[in-house]
Formats: sequence, structure tokens, C-alpha cells
Amino acid sequence: MLRRTCPVKPPQPWPARAAATLTGPLFGYLSRQAARPHGLAGRLLGRIWIRETAVVNDVAIDLLDAKPGERVVEIGCGPGRALGWLAADGATVVGVDVSPTMLATARRRNAHLVAGGRLELLLGDGIALPLPDDAVDGVVGVHTIYFWPDPAATFGEAARVLRPGGRLVLAYRAGEHPLPRRLDPSVYHAPTTEQLTKWLDAAGFAHVDVRWRPDVEHGVAWVTAVLPGTSKPVSVRTAAGEPAAPSG
Ligand SMILES: C[S@@+](CC[C@H](N)C(=O)[O-])C[C@H]1O[C@@H](n2cnc3c(N)ncnc32)[C@H](O)[C@@H]1O
Repeated sequence: MLRRTCPVKPPQPWPARAAATLTGPLFGYLSRQAARPHGLAGRLLGRIWIRETAVVNDVAIDLLDAKPGERVVEIGCGPGRALGWLAADGATVVGVDVSPTMLATARRRNAHLVAGGRLELLLGDGIALPLPDDAVDGVVGVHTIYFWPDPAATFGEAARVLRPGGRLVLAYRAGEHPLPRRLDPSVYHAPTTEQLTKWLDAAGFAHVDVRWRPDVEHGVAWVTAVLPGTSKPVSVRTAAGEPAAPSG
């Protein structure tokens, strides 16, 4: 008797096929908007993210643990919710984004901070941060690495603008877990945390630490790292809440 050696997928029922035909282009469009929001759809997405990514951002902000008087840059700041909370910690904040639409939203939401000189919003790409060397104490990026044209180069930039002892916190859907179907994989490039760690090592970071918080969001990794140097005391909070030792 002839036996099949490879499994054959049963054909999908037509409603599922029709749904996939309709949602595929929509998910592709929304994913491209997420990479560089523009127009009305971009503004609407920005409004959605303010709630949707709040908890992941809050954990990242907590891990960065910005101190009063420190200067922090957020790469891919989007609508600027995290910028406001970083400033509330007493830091002076710089938001960098490739999208003028998102910068306008961030400016509107944080007008008082901009007016008070506590927040600067700069159009730019993480691959060439519009900041001088040794300019900041912290770098943060949430749900943005997927869209960076060259993550290794961007981590090099983060190392360049950080002062010795500066901290980096990154939160993203890591490649170890499948992406939700609504995120188009041809737009959302999700490296594994192993790959990310290699890039951070190559950029000169130390104390690279990966945290998973399925209680907050399944599949999201929070990665922290410290730029070696002892110019000032450093504390990147560990999962247990203890400060990590600065590297010598
Ligand atoms: C999905 S949104 C996340 C926004 C915000 N961080 C949050 O958690 O809600 C991604 C943001 O990254 C920005 N972005 C994409 N590529 C970038 C790059 N190479 N450099 C800086 N920002 C970038 C996009 O314009 C967008 O505002």
C-alpha cells in the first residue's frame, strides 16, 4: 500500500481563506505604518500605542531608573508617553524618531516639558543619533528595534552617545517567540536575545541581562546593559530589584 511520507495540510475552509486574503494586506499596511507612522493612520496608531504599549514601557522605565539631573535619550519615541514619565523621574529627556508625525504628537502631549527645556525632540534615525559623544546617561528603546536598518550600528551609536557607566534598556518581541499574526514578518524583524547580546557585546556593552515577564507580556524581552566605565555610580535594577554592579 502506498503511504504518504510527508503530511499534507488539509485545505482551509473558505471563510478562513477569505479572512486571510483580507487581513494580509491590512496587517502589512499597519506594520509599515508602525515602522514609520504618517498621516491620519499614523496618528491613530500613535494614540493606540499610548495604551497598548504602556505596561511594557513602564517596566523599561523602571529598569532604566533615571535619576534627577540625568539625561536620557529614547530611540523610536513614538507618541512620547515614556518621555513624559522619564521626565517625571527628574531626567532631562531627548526623543528621537524617524517619523515627523510621531514627533508632532510627542511635542503636543509634552508641550509643558518642551517649553520648560526638559524635553528635546529630534528627527533622526538610531543609526546616526543626532547627539554628540558622551551626551547621555541612559538610552531606552521600546518596540522599535524591528525597524532599525542596522541594529549593530545603532548599538554602536548608543555606546558612542552614552557616558562611561551609562545604561541601556531595550524592550521588544524577541525572535524566540512567534510574532502575533497581525505583525507582518517582512516588516517586523525580531532578533533573538542571543543575537541581540552578540551585537551589544560587539558594541562594547557589559552586564547584558535578559528578563522575561510573562506576567506583563508573553514573548517580550527586556534587555539591559551597561557601558563600562566608572565615571559615576551606576544602577541598572536587576529582576530582584538589586542594583547590578558597575563594571570597572
Ligand atoms: C511601534 S512604534 C513604538 C513607539 C513607542 N516606543 C512605544 O513603545 O509605544 C515604533 C517607533 O519607532 C520609530 N522608528 C522606526 N525606525 C526607527 C529608527 N531607525 N530610528 C528611530 N526611530 C525609528 C517609528 O517611527 C515609531 O515611532
